[in-house]
Amino acid sequence: MGRDLQKLISEMTLEEKAGLCSGADFWHTKAVERLGIPAVMVSDGPHGLRKQDQEGDHLGINDSIVAVCFPAACATSSSFDTEMIHEMGDTIGQECQAEDLSVVLGPAVNIKRSPLCGRNFEYFSEDPYLAGKMAAAYIQGVQKWDVGTSIKHFAANNQEYHRMNTSSEVSERALREIYFPAFEEAVKKAQPKTVMCSYNKINGTYSSENPWLLTKVLRDDWGFEGYVMTDWGAIDDRIDGIRAGLDLEMPASGGENDRRIVEAVQNGSLDEKVLDTTVERILKVIFSYVDHRHTDAVFDREKDHEKAVAAETHCAVLLQNNGVLPLKSSTKVAYIGEFAEKPRYQGGGSSHINSSKVTSALESGRNKNRNLEYVKGFPADKDEQDEAELQKAVAAAVSADVAVIFAGLPDSFESEGYDRKDMKLPKCQNRLIEEVVRVQPNTVVVLHNGSPVECPWADKVAAILELYLGGQGVGEAADQLLFGEVNPSGHLAESFPYQLEDNPSYLFFPGDGHTVRYAEDVFVGYRYYDTKKMPVRWAFGHGLSYTTFAMGNLKLSDKKMDDTSRVSVSVEVTNTGSVKGKQVVQLYISDRNGTVERPLKELKGFAKTELMPGETKTVSMEISARDLSYY
Ligand code: BGC
Repeated sequence: MGRDLQKLISEMTLEEKAGLCSGADFWHTKAVERLGIPAVMVSDGPHGLRKQDQEGDHLGINDSIVAVCFPAACATSSSFDTEMIHEMGDTIGQECQAEDLSVVLGPAVNIKRSPLCGRNFEYFSEDPYLAGKMAAAYIQGVQKWDVGTSIKHFAANNQEYHRMNTSSEVSERALREIYFPAFEEAVKKAQPKTVMCSYNKINGTYSSENPWLLTKVLRDDWGFEGYVMTDWGAIDDRIDGIRAGLDLEMPASGGENDRRIVEAVQNGSLDEKVLDTTVERILKVIFSYVDHRHTDAVFDREKDHEKAVAAETHCAVLLQNNGVLPLKSSTKVAYIGEFAEKPRYQGGGSSHINSSKVTSALESGRNKNRNLEYVKGFPADKDEQDEAELQKAVAAAVSADVAVIFAGLPDSFESEGYDRKDMKLPKCQNRLIEEVVRVQPNTVVVLHNGSPVECPWADKVAAILELYLGGQGVGEAADQLLFGEVNPSGHLAESFPYQLEDNPSYLFFPGDGHTVRYAEDVFVGYRYYDTKKMPVRWAFGHGLSYTTFAMGNLKLSDKKMDDTSRVSVSVEVTNTGSVKGKQVVQLYISDRNGTVERPLKELKGFAKTELMPGETKTVSMEISARDLSYY
């Protein structure tokens, strides 16, 4: 709809313009009623709605509306499935329209620099290419509904320790090759309506007042057309912020910064034209929502729950399997560990969803009359060994055909607001796994965690299924995967080092609270392990299936390319096993004869394809000059 925003702005008083630059409260922008500018609501996100009706907070403490919790980004990225995450975004977009939310705060695309970052569960990957593709697909899904997204936290926010003031000391090369590309891809491909800047400084300058970041890179280089908002309270100097390209301050500024803006215009230190541009960007996004309300949108919690279950079945990663999985319906199985009954399916903090229902693997199995015995074994919420429970678990494992241990990280071990202390599972769980596997070789471990854990018992157990934080349908998904109703098809979006000390950021994380030096530079995750030839427990991209695949006949459409052309890479994939399954073809590039120091290989393409037994398909991917370049 053709609104004349220039005219509208010309009718606004200086005070009204300044007022529009910060929230009315925790979640709303300010209305200017006399001019027909309504207040609109924004809400967390991103894997479901955290719409708070009453008192706002940004830590997920106060209750929000009952909503559907989809798998968190740690899980969705493992699907390597852009269609799946597009559909999830589509569902969330519709939910936003039904709940009158103009912007959902996400996706979060910060790179997993260290396995310890408390918010890794909300982030996609250690790889920027994968993170960018997943983010763009999610944004396109949500924005189909004329609802905005807010890609966050721009940029270099890779830890929780002193996240509000620490300075990420990072080279421009690492920014351009590792920490920016997910934002860049999303902006160029999907044009998120808003970007949320991070709390931290980058090389000494707060993101919220960094003109290079918010204007040169974001708008001039990438062509961003929406508005930039602060993370909640991520404001230092409001006037510098406006000059740098920061539009909306969230939440409310209590009128203080609005007054400063008025003063700055009046005393000539801020050009009113700059303020007008800021106001125009905010109004454009407000009206793109207000003028396109989908009054027929419904939030069908039952239906969306089923979608959450289905999504997780595409995400879980089968890390190891000696053939014990899938379980047969007649198999006598001992479910051990409280996560079987109370799965951990989401992380703590601003993304915390008040879930409409949660299904456990135990309940799902019982509903299907599986031959199950259940022993709590250990608690899901703390590290506490109960000897009697341990003995019961061992006894149940002995008398069953297969023991399935539902392990994972308790809530308090990882959350927004603080980083993890180490990469270990609770001691009580490690001990129980060791004791059970001693008496039962057919032991399967199922993991519920937001980022990698050390698995010292991995070589002894028969199978490991990584569920990550799989959303409210994780239990049903686990049942379907364990019993082979669905064939696992997830692949790791991050490396699992043997131990924390192997991680490239280990010596430089999380800094001293003032600065954190990104000394590993572009050698993040597998870019380091591969180049260093350092073995890891499970590599980036790893994931098994109940079937097997063969790949061959790799072809390039051309042997040469220039700045503008593209080369198509095709490969034949065959399902060589006996059940239907999905394979993720991953395309890595490597610089064979360059002189610049570069990672051994880098992901530059992927495609997920489903194959019936015996079926062959040709999968093609394209590479451009940019895919081969370094900064
Ligand atoms: C988080 C953001 C979130 C915001 C609003 C902040 O503390 O860093 O990711 O969107 O709060 O809840």
